[in-house]
Amino acid sequence: MSLLTKLASLGAAGLMLLSVPLDTAAPQNDVDGTLFLVNRQWMVTESYEPSDLRQAEVPGSVRQMRDEAASALEEMFAACKEETGVTLISVSGYRAYVRQYNIYHRKLRSVKGNEAKAQEYVAPPGASEHQLGLAMDIGQRNKPHLNDKFADTPGGKWAQENCWRFGFILRYGKEWEEVTGYKYESWHFRYVGKEKAKEIHEANIPYETWMIGYRTKLLERLMSD
Ligand code: DAL
Ligand code: ZN
Repeated sequence: MSLLTKLASLGAAGLMLLSVPLDTAAPQNDVDGTLFLVNRQWMVTESYEPSDLRQAEVPGSVRQMRDEAASALEEMFAACKEETGVTLISVSGYRAYVRQYNIYHRKLRSVKGNEAKAQEYVAPPGASEHQLGLAMDIGQRNKPHLNDKFADTPGGKWAQENCWRFGFILRYGKEWEEVTGYKYESWHFRYVGKEKAKEIHEANIPYETWMIGYRTKLLERLMSD
Protein backbone atom coordinates (compact mmCIF):
# COMPACT_ATOMS: atom_id res chain seq x y z
CA MET A 1 0.00 0.00 0.00
CA SER A 2 1.40 3.42 -0.91
CA LEU A 3 1.96 6.05 1.74
CA LEU A 4 -0.81 8.23 0.35
CA THR A 5 -3.30 5.33 0.32
CA LYS A 6 -2.39 4.49 3.89
CA LEU A 7 -2.85 8.08 4.98
CA ALA A 8 -6.19 8.30 3.21
CA SER A 9 -7.43 5.09 4.82
CA LEU A 10 -6.40 6.28 8.28
CA GLY A 11 -8.37 9.51 8.06
CA ALA A 12 -7.95 12.60 10.25
CA ALA A 13 -7.72 10.71 13.54
CA GLY A 14 -4.95 8.56 12.19
CA LEU A 15 -3.08 11.59 10.95
CA MET A 16 -3.31 13.21 14.37
CA LEU A 17 -1.92 10.11 16.01
CA LEU A 18 0.85 9.90 13.45
CA SER A 19 2.01 13.45 14.04
CA VAL A 20 3.06 12.63 17.59
CA PRO A 21 5.81 10.07 16.95
CA LEU A 22 6.89 11.83 13.77
CA ASP A 23 7.49 15.06 15.62
CA THR A 24 9.30 13.22 18.36
CA ALA A 25 11.66 11.77 15.78
CA ALA A 26 12.00 14.94 13.75
CA PRO A 27 15.09 17.17 13.95
CA GLN A 28 12.84 20.16 14.69
CA ASN A 29 12.10 18.72 18.11
CA ASP A 30 15.75 18.51 18.98
CA VAL A 31 17.28 21.97 19.14
CA ASP A 32 20.48 20.46 20.57
CA GLY A 33 20.80 18.03 17.66
CA THR A 34 23.09 18.78 14.74
CA LEU A 35 20.26 18.79 12.18
CA PHE A 36 17.98 21.47 13.63
CA LEU A 37 16.83 23.72 10.80
CA VAL A 38 16.80 27.44 11.59
CA ASN A 39 15.37 30.08 9.30
CA ARG A 40 12.67 32.75 9.51
CA GLN A 41 9.99 30.04 9.75
CA TRP A 42 11.80 27.87 12.29
CA MET A 43 13.23 30.13 14.94
CA VAL A 44 14.97 29.53 18.24
CA THR A 45 13.98 31.16 21.50
CA GLU A 46 15.74 34.17 22.95
CA SER A 47 17.02 32.07 25.83
CA TYR A 48 18.47 29.26 23.71
CA GLU A 49 22.19 28.81 24.20
CA PRO A 50 24.07 25.56 23.46
CA SER A 51 25.62 23.96 26.53
CA ASP A 52 28.82 22.71 24.89
CA LEU A 53 30.34 25.82 23.30
CA ARG A 54 34.09 26.12 23.10
CA GLN A 55 36.72 28.10 21.21
CA ALA A 56 37.75 26.33 18.00
CA GLU A 57 41.53 26.13 17.88
CA VAL A 58 41.87 27.86 14.52
CA PRO A 59 43.27 31.21 13.38
CA GLY A 60 40.76 34.05 13.36
CA SER A 61 38.19 35.70 15.58
CA VAL A 62 34.78 34.86 17.10
CA ARG A 63 35.86 31.23 17.20
CA GLN A 64 33.21 29.77 19.48
CA MET A 65 31.20 26.80 18.23
CA ARG A 66 29.61 23.69 19.72
CA ASP A 67 32.26 21.14 20.61
CA GLU A 68 31.57 18.70 17.74
CA ALA A 69 31.45 21.49 15.16
CA ALA A 70 34.62 23.10 16.55
CA SER A 71 36.50 19.80 16.15
CA ALA A 72 35.23 19.46 12.58
CA LEU A 73 36.31 23.04 11.81
CA GLU A 74 39.79 22.38 13.19
CA GLU A 75 40.04 19.26 11.00
CA MET A 76 38.85 21.20 7.94
CA PHE A 77 41.24 24.14 8.37
CA ALA A 78 44.18 21.76 8.94
CA ALA A 79 43.29 19.79 5.79
CA CYS A 80 43.07 22.98 3.72
CA LYS A 81 46.50 24.06 4.96
CA GLU A 82 47.93 20.63 4.22
CA GLU A 83 46.36 20.21 0.79
CA THR A 84 46.72 23.76 -0.56
CA GLY A 85 49.04 25.67 1.78
CA VAL A 86 46.24 28.19 2.34
CA THR A 87 45.30 29.45 5.81
CA LEU A 88 41.59 29.69 6.44
CA ILE A 89 40.36 31.91 9.26
CA SER A 90 37.22 32.02 11.35
CA VAL A 91 35.34 35.30 10.99
CA SER A 92 32.11 34.73 12.89
CA GLY A 93 30.96 31.61 14.74
CA TYR A 94 28.55 31.42 17.67
CA ARG A 95 26.39 34.49 18.28
CA ALA A 96 24.09 34.79 21.23
CA TYR A 97 20.55 36.05 20.55
CA VAL A 98 21.41 39.52 21.82
CA ARG A 99 24.44 39.75 19.53
CA GLN A 100 22.33 38.80 16.51
CA TYR A 101 19.76 41.36 17.69
CA ASN A 102 22.42 44.08 17.70
CA ILE A 103 23.85 43.07 14.30
CA TYR A 104 20.37 42.96 12.77
CA HIS A 105 19.26 46.30 14.17
CA ARG A 106 22.49 48.00 13.11
CA LYS A 107 21.89 46.67 9.60
CA LEU A 108 18.25 47.76 9.72
CA ARG A 109 19.28 51.31 10.65
CA SER A 110 21.81 51.38 7.82
CA VAL A 111 19.06 50.62 5.29
CA LYS A 112 16.63 53.11 6.85
CA GLY A 113 14.30 50.48 8.30
CA ASN A 114 13.80 48.49 5.09
CA GLU A 115 13.34 44.98 6.56
CA ALA A 116 13.49 43.10 3.26
CA LYS A 117 16.78 44.80 2.43
CA ALA A 118 18.20 44.18 5.91
CA GLN A 119 17.28 40.51 5.64
CA GLU A 120 19.07 39.91 2.35
CA TYR A 121 22.17 38.91 4.31
CA VAL A 122 21.33 39.20 7.99
CA ALA A 123 18.90 37.00 9.90
CA PRO A 124 16.63 38.62 12.48
CA PRO A 125 17.36 37.55 16.08
CA GLY A 126 16.17 33.97 16.69
CA ALA A 127 16.40 33.13 12.99
CA SER A 128 20.16 32.75 12.73
CA GLU A 129 21.90 29.41 12.79
CA HIS A 130 24.87 31.22 14.32
CA GLN A 131 22.82 31.04 17.55
CA LEU A 132 22.97 27.23 17.31
CA GLY A 133 26.78 27.31 17.49
CA LEU A 134 26.81 25.22 14.30
CA ALA A 135 27.61 27.92 11.74
CA MET A 136 30.88 29.58 10.84
CA ASP A 137 31.65 32.44 8.48
CA ILE A 138 34.98 31.56 6.93
CA GLY A 139 37.63 33.68 5.25
CA GLN A 140 41.10 33.28 3.83
CA ARG A 141 43.89 35.03 5.71
CA ASN A 142 44.78 38.42 4.15
CA LYS A 143 41.95 38.22 1.62
CA PRO A 144 38.57 39.96 1.57
CA HIS A 145 35.90 38.33 3.68
CA LEU A 146 32.17 38.35 4.09
CA ASN A 147 31.63 39.25 0.46
CA ASP A 148 31.47 37.48 -2.89
CA LYS A 149 35.22 37.88 -3.41
CA PHE A 150 35.82 35.03 -0.95
CA ALA A 151 34.36 32.61 -3.52
CA ASP A 152 37.23 33.47 -5.90
CA THR A 153 40.03 32.95 -3.39
CA PRO A 154 41.83 29.57 -3.35
CA GLY A 155 40.58 29.05 0.22
CA GLY A 156 37.01 29.88 -0.76
CA LYS A 157 37.05 27.48 -3.67
CA TRP A 158 38.59 24.73 -1.57
CA ALA A 159 36.07 25.27 1.23
CA GLN A 160 33.09 25.03 -1.12
CA GLU A 161 34.39 21.86 -2.76
CA ASN A 162 35.59 20.11 0.38
CA CYS A 163 33.50 21.28 3.36
CA TRP A 164 31.24 18.21 3.16
CA ARG A 165 34.20 15.92 3.96
CA PHE A 166 34.26 17.51 7.42
CA GLY A 167 30.50 17.66 8.00
CA PHE A 168 29.77 21.18 6.71
CA ILE A 169 27.45 22.42 3.97
CA LEU A 170 27.42 25.71 2.10
CA ARG A 171 24.10 26.91 3.45
CA TYR A 172 23.09 29.81 1.17
CA GLY A 173 23.93 28.69 -2.36
CA LYS A 174 23.77 30.91 -5.40
CA GLU A 175 20.81 29.18 -7.03
CA TRP A 176 18.86 28.79 -3.82
CA GLU A 177 17.92 32.33 -2.85
CA GLU A 178 14.18 31.72 -3.35
CA VAL A 179 14.27 28.71 -1.03
CA THR A 180 16.66 29.84 1.70
CA GLY A 181 15.41 33.43 1.74
CA TYR A 182 18.97 34.81 1.69
CA LYS A 183 21.36 36.05 -0.96
CA TYR A 184 24.30 33.86 -1.88
CA GLU A 185 26.81 33.69 0.97
CA SER A 186 30.01 32.02 -0.19
CA TRP A 187 31.42 32.29 3.36
CA HIS A 188 28.68 30.80 5.56
CA PHE A 189 29.07 27.12 6.41
CA ARG A 190 26.74 25.03 8.55
CA TYR A 191 27.74 21.89 10.43
CA VAL A 192 25.36 18.92 10.06
CA GLY A 193 27.76 15.98 10.59
CA LYS A 194 29.74 14.03 8.01
CA GLU A 195 27.09 11.53 6.93
CA LYS A 196 24.39 14.09 6.22
CA ALA A 197 26.80 16.65 4.74
CA LYS A 198 27.89 14.08 2.14
CA GLU A 199 24.26 13.28 1.34
CA ILE A 200 23.31 16.95 0.98
CA HIS A 201 26.44 17.74 -1.04
CA GLU A 202 25.66 14.90 -3.47
CA ALA A 203 22.01 15.93 -3.76
CA ASN A 204 23.11 19.55 -4.33
CA ILE A 205 19.93 20.97 -2.85
CA PRO A 206 19.17 23.61 -0.20
CA TYR A 207 18.93 22.41 3.39
CA GLU A 208 15.24 23.32 3.51
CA THR A 209 14.55 21.02 0.55
CA TRP A 210 16.64 18.20 1.96
CA MET A 211 14.77 18.48 5.27
CA ILE A 212 11.40 17.96 3.57
CA GLY A 213 12.72 14.71 2.07
CA TYR A 214 14.21 13.68 5.40
CA ARG A 215 10.92 14.22 7.24
CA THR A 216 9.03 12.34 4.51
CA LYS A 217 11.37 9.37 4.94
CA LEU A 218 10.77 9.42 8.70
CA LEU A 219 7.04 9.36 8.07
CA GLU A 220 7.34 6.51 5.57
CA ARG A 221 9.40 4.48 8.03
CA LEU A 222 6.77 5.07 10.67
CA MET A 223 3.99 3.98 8.34
CA SER A 224 5.71 0.77 7.35
CA ASP A 225 6.29 -0.36 10.98
N1 DAL B 1 23.95 35.69 7.42
C1 DAL B 1 23.05 34.71 7.99
C2 DAL B 1 21.80 34.60 7.21
C3 DAL B 1 22.77 35.01 9.44
O1 DAL B 1 22.73 36.18 9.79
O2 DAL B 1 22.58 34.07 10.18
ZN1 ZN C 1 27.04 33.37 8.70
